[in-house]
Amino acid sequence: MSPPLPLTEKHRPKNFTEIKGQAIAIQEAITFFKTFPMKKALILNGPVGVGKTCIAIALAKEFNLELFELNASDLRNRSKLDEILKPATAQKSLFKKGKLILMDEADGITTSDRGGLPELVALIEKTKHPIIITANDIWQRKFNLLRRKCHLVTLKELKQETISEILNNILRKEGIAINPKTINIIIENSKGDMRAALNDLETVLSLGEEIFIEELSEREKQETIFNALKQVFQEQTNEKTISAYNNINLDLNEILLWIEENIPLEYQGQALAKAYDSLSKADLFKGRIYRQQYWRFLVYQNFFLSAGISAATKLKYKKFTQYKRPSRILKIWLSNQKNAKKKSITIKYAKLTHMSKKKANKESFLFPLIINQRAQDKLDLNEKEKEWLEDKREGMIESNELERFKN
Ligand SMILES: Nc1ncnc2c1ncn2[C@@H]1O[C@H](COP(=O)(O)OP(=O)(O)OP(=O)(O)O)[C@@H](O)[C@H]1O
Ligand SMILES: [Mg+2]
Repeated sequence: MSPPLPLTEKHRPKNFTEIKGQAIAIQEAITFFKTFPMKKALILNGPVGVGKTCIAIALAKEFNLELFELNASDLRNRSKLDEILKPATAQKSLFKKGKLILMDEADGITTSDRGGLPELVALIEKTKHPIIITANDIWQRKFNLLRRKCHLVTLKELKQETISEILNNILRKEGIAINPKTINIIIENSKGDMRAALNDLETVLSLGEEIFIEELSEREKQETIFNALKQVFQEQTNEKTISAYNNINLDLNEILLWIEENIPLEYQGQALAKAYDSLSKADLFKGRIYRQQYWRFLVYQNFFLSAGISAATKLKYKKFTQYKRPSRILKIWLSNQKNAKKKSITIKYAKLTHMSKKKANKESFLFPLIINQRAQDKLDLNEKEKEWLEDKREGMIESNELERFKN
């Protein structure tokens, strides 16, 4: 048996009426066809997952055209282009259908020799068949010339009501009911992106609502750490830099791993060396905290991870960096993070020491080392919680984590 299709494929709209919330765009696309070849190409520009590719596919269907999908490398392939440029009558095809050429997701095409953008412009000039180009950001400078040659249609994010309508239609067709609260969470999280909504629905259906909610909080966490990394790496160092990690519910050791993983993506040359130097200082304090239980060194660890890393260069510029999840040890770390027992210990610990839960969580990586027998009694830990502490302690020994703290 073949694996079931993902919802995004299984429920891809097959005609115009099944594409929701894009009536204006569809109308304009039809006008483009009816007035072809006044303009020879149509650009569908808009955010991800709103139906651009769906509209292109539905257009081919409704106008009974054969869809030819092109990619950037095809644009440099003479024989492929010649084949495409052939008029419909010269085709060997049995039904002599007309053609619709689709250049899907054009954002990556570049003007360089190997990029294909000049070839695309040339193709538009020569073509006898309508061309559709989809893109997320056609307003990039490199597309100036291309834009002028095309009929431009802009699509917007789908409204919440539209996302809701599509989701509920699919659930009805599948004969499945899920918690309306969960549907609302999916809708809110989609930010107008139908593909995201369908993928989330898929998670709920295959893994259950609980895991989906857990995954969401993981995603949120990732977003806050991304913002903090951006602040530290890409903004000028100032008094706010040292608070970069304040609102992140991660302990400093995990933050250290994130920094370590992503330094080479942001810095080069001297800045890179300086950043690694600051990182090793943070690591040094981490060692002292463990060995000598010098809590106040947390401040220094934080300082070297924030201002220290940030000040490695004054030459700051904003760019999009795809930050990476730390690969080293984080796996052990995260699985522990998720652990409910850790959470319950954190709550008890926070209460006993009169600190906020957030702060207690930041120190929670120390629990296996600092919560001794006496502290366990004071915290009134249950057997499961004690077991967790013991496991974690063993895990740290196995993964050589303790060795790292000693030097
Ligand atoms: N307006 C819509 N009505 C119904 N379903 C939609 C709509 N938009 C998107 N979808 C669903 O979301 C999936 C993704 O849509 P589509 O591939 O058209 O997005 P896109 O705009 O081309 O995104 P990208 O920019 O990422 O290529 C489709 O398979 C379809 O199931
Ligand atoms: Mg698409």
